[in-house]
Amino acid sequence: MRQTRPTTREEPLISLRDVEVHFENERGLFDFGSDPRVVRAVDGVSFDVEENDVISLVGESGCGKTTLGKSVIGLQRPTGGTINYRGHDMWEIRDGTSDANIDWKDVRTSLQIIHQDPGSSLNPNRRLIAILSEPLRQTHPELSAGEKRERIYSLLERVGMNPAADFAERYPHQLSGGEQQRVALCRALLMNPDVILADEAISALDVSLRVEMMDLMLDLQEEFGTSYVFISHDLSNARYFSQHGGGKIGVMYLGELAEFGPAEDVINDPQHPYTKVLRWATPNLSERKTGRLPMRKIDIPDPVNPPAGCRFHTRCPEARAVCKQQHPAATTVGDQSVTCFRMHDDHEYWNSPELEADEAAITADD
Ligand SMILES: Nc1ncnc2c1ncn2[C@@H]1O[C@H](COP(=O)(O)OP(=O)(O)OP(=O)(O)O)[C@@H](O)[C@H]1O
Ligand code: SF4
Ligand SMILES: [Mg+2]
Repeated sequence: MRQTRPTTREEPLISLRDVEVHFENERGLFDFGSDPRVVRAVDGVSFDVEENDVISLVGESGCGKTTLGKSVIGLQRPTGGTINYRGHDMWEIRDGTSDANIDWKDVRTSLQIIHQDPGSSLNPNRRLIAILSEPLRQTHPELSAGEKRERIYSLLERVGMNPAADFAERYPHQLSGGEQQRVALCRALLMNPDVILADEAISALDVSLRVEMMDLMLDLQEEFGTSYVFISHDLSNARYFSQHGGGKIGVMYLGELAEFGPAEDVINDPQHPYTKVLRWATPNLSERKTGRLPMRKIDIPDPVNPPAGCRFHTRCPEARAVCKQQHPAATTVGDQSVTCFRMHDDHEYWNSPELEADEAAITADD
């Protein structure tokens, strides 16, 4: 298994501190006079993306993975907190108020994305050779047409699209989903990116192709020296990708990071009750699910009005009365960061009465 190479710079590539993204949705016709509905998509999230890093973000639908991922690559402006690119505030660079000598265009070029549905992001009217020449034109304007063609052919061969000369002349609709996704990866890599956000990039592929695509991404990482932020609602994919890439896993719950740390630790020694739920639900091939689902309620709370106190308290099997009242802060345990009172031996949680199974949750607006 490969290990993450340590960063050679003092500053992380991307650094998030207390990042918050709240969406204020417009009021409906009959909501006039009421408060606007604020979706707390991301709240109080902090972590670093290092050079050649592999970070997987996992969690249920709507927990804020895409919003957070887009924030990391400068596609979503946070409503609170800071996001630094190589030690400089990303949005000050964007607004032209930074004293850093960095062009926003270069930042955008260095932070790329591949989506779940590559078909929609590949221009249907252009052949692959034209689609893949475009990033090279931006990053290597000095290359002749022949040199560009040579690079594109060799990358297509590298991702298993042989004969490259044949594939290069095809249009996106003449490719399978897996081939389209490989082209999207090639296009992102040809931008020489610092980070590629892969948002459910393998979710639409057949199970057999998923592992192939993840292996390919990790192999190419070494050659291109890029970092990945890999989003999946499925812990087994996140686990495969981060464990094989020697990286980390961030477990999100209702906009917050419940747990963040090295993949090995998060998988083999999960600390947060929610990570334990996900871990229970995705056993190894050699394991089997035992006992009952370690969760109290199945319903996902509304992100517009999340539970007060710890957001997981309505479903947490370990919840106690204090969890309804107080909001836990992220605590560092070894290399893991865990947002739960149980990390503190001396917290009042331990003397707080347990919640009744059907005890009604209170919400932030109560
Ligand atoms: N532009 C937007 N305006 C308003 N609300 C938004 C916007 N984008 C996302 N949201 C809301 O923010 C929350 C988080 O959405 P997000 O897409 O980040 O979740 P996700 O974890 O990626 O979900 P999925 O697994 O379904 O892709 C959701 O409640 C969503 O409805
Ligand atoms: S703080 Fe309480 S409710 Fe939240 S995860 Fe920990 S034990 Fe569960
Ligand atoms: Mg998403």
